[in-house]
Amino acid sequence: MAFNQLSKFIVALCLIQFISGGYSATFTITNKCSNTVWPGILSNAGTAQLPTTGFALQPGESNSIAVPASWSGRLWGRTLCSQDATTGKFSCVTGDCGSSTVECAGGGAAPPASLAEFTLNGANGLDFYDVSLVDGYNLPMTVAPQGGTGGNCTTTGCVVDLNSGCPSELKVTASDEGVACKSACEAFGDPMYCCSGAYATPDTCKPSSYSQFFKNACPKAYSYAYDDGTSTFTCAAADYLITFCPVPPATSVKSANGQYPVAVGVSSSSHSRTPNVFVFATITLLAAFWRLLPIF
Ligand SMILES: *[C@@H]1O[C@H](CO)[C@@H](O)[C@H](O)[C@H]1NC(C)=O
Repeated sequence: MAFNQLSKFIVALCLIQFISGGYSATFTITNKCSNTVWPGILSNAGTAQLPTTGFALQPGESNSIAVPASWSGRLWGRTLCSQDATTGKFSCVTGDCGSSTVECAGGGAAPPASLAEFTLNGANGLDFYDVSLVDGYNLPMTVAPQGGTGGNCTTTGCVVDLNSGCPSELKVTASDEGVACKSACEAFGDPMYCCSGAYATPDTCKPSSYSQFFKNACPKAYSYAYDDGTSTFTCAAADYLITFCPVPPATSVKSANGQYPVAVGVSSSSHSRTPNVFVFATITLLAAFWRLLPIF
């Protein structure tokens, strides 16, 4: 192949890379809970579903997912899932997405569930992310940007276990144990709590004693629909580490000397932003041509 053909080819590949919109992000999802969590992922309307929309994560396990540039959607944890022995139907006590398999395939979380919400490469090229308890709570979870930049590119979420301390009128139990905590909207359906009807504006929908229960425990998470100022975070060019139960459960980790051991196991290797497939293709092809050069 003549060198000018080769250079045209490389220019074409670079053009494809440019047009395809730059970089994708990596989500690393880690389960530090003492029980299995089944993450569910739902893309927003108009955004393609990711290659996986649900899977199991054993305690201590992590899974990394490549997320396309401009993806928007939500991610949550399902708990107490099982497959029915006779029907084969998969279902979960909390966060169930209505599908009969482990994949959610377009189904959203049944409240109450803690949600991580993302809009990647939104306004000004920034990623917007938050952890929301607007639809209630089922698991402690954090979203930690890795390697991004920006004024409030910091960890958000809710590290506290609210299932036992949940007010009784909001509490969801299974086998006499608190497994989730409803929002006041879900529990009472009152427009005042739901920010609907006459309360559908930031001026009319105010925090309630119930939303304040969530806000006091988890100051960075959304506690009601218009909690934007303190609950939305932004980053440029970050990857994201999403952790269920970021703080080890106090009862099970107390060591002999009464100290809490340092949290284990989250890889802190630098998560540089993943160049998309075209970059890899370009590099691979360049490497191949490089090796062939002496032949010409
Ligand atoms: C983070 O920055 C965005 C954009 O400037 C802003 O809207 C939001 O209120 C900030 N969030 C926090 C928690 O300060």
